[in-house]
Amino acid sequence: MRTITINTLQAMKQDGEKFAVLAAYDATFAHFISEAEVEVILVGDSLGMVVQGHDTTIPVTVEQIAYHTAAVKRGARRSFIIADMPFMSYGDCGSALRNAATLMQAGAQMVKLEGGAWLADTFHQMAERGIPTCAHLGLTPQSVNKFGGYKVQGRDADHAQQILSDAITLEQAGADLLVLECVPTPLAAEISRSLSIPVIGIGAGPHTDAQVLVLYDMLGLTPSRAPKFTKNFLLGQPDIPAALRAYVEDVKSGAFPAEEHSFK
Ligand code: KIV
Repeated sequence: MRTITINTLQAMKQDGEKFAVLAAYDATFAHFISEAEVEVILVGDSLGMVVQGHDTTIPVTVEQIAYHTAAVKRGARRSFIIADMPFMSYGDCGSALRNAATLMQAGAQMVKLEGGAWLADTFHQMAERGIPTCAHLGLTPQSVNKFGGYKVQGRDADHAQQILSDAITLEQAGADLLVLECVPTPLAAEISRSLSIPVIGIGAGPHTDAQVLVLYDMLGLTPSRAPKFTKNFLLGQPDIPAALRAYVEDVKSGAFPAEEHSFK
């Protein structure tokens, strides 16, 4: 695989070629993920749940994401690396810039922030300072206490319109990518069509420009009931590298996600 940059991902969107993303946290997995030609590795704050055993992503700190980003960077030869900005690490613009700098210096090539139009100034300031950004809309897990649980977002027309309008505002503010989590398939399709930046879906149906899953989920390592939007790619494969390649193949062909992994 060629070395992936922000330009590669933008060109893939323009050419209608889908790309694969996995959330992962260490050098060994990053090595095999990169070898399987997964274009992007997200050092997600999901590490708080799948690595640290918390119920939410809220306890994760900037230092922890920086530590795992540095490990992923050492393992991933060609994949593009995005680091998640943890809960309240971007509550105001000054802390956002300072904390983004820590993650970029640890090896990230982009940072991801959860939230809508209120973040427009932060995205703009980051763009001006050379920090690539990924927005995250729909089910934003850091707001789980505000949502009252992990629920599909944008089911009613007003909320769907709000998510679409936030997406357009953040693109205009300088966001380079957008993650859309747990929204109905038609809404994700409309947002993907409306934006010129690549849209990465998780529980957002098959019409986004890319898909992301948490590594542990796609290897079937989910101790409780697996979320509807995941699939165990290790089933029927001889080993983990083969499962990773199967994921890439299914994302690129559009075979994943199927209707059973999506929300109406
Ligand atoms: O933290 C994470 O892994 C994420 C993805 C699930 C999108 O934000």
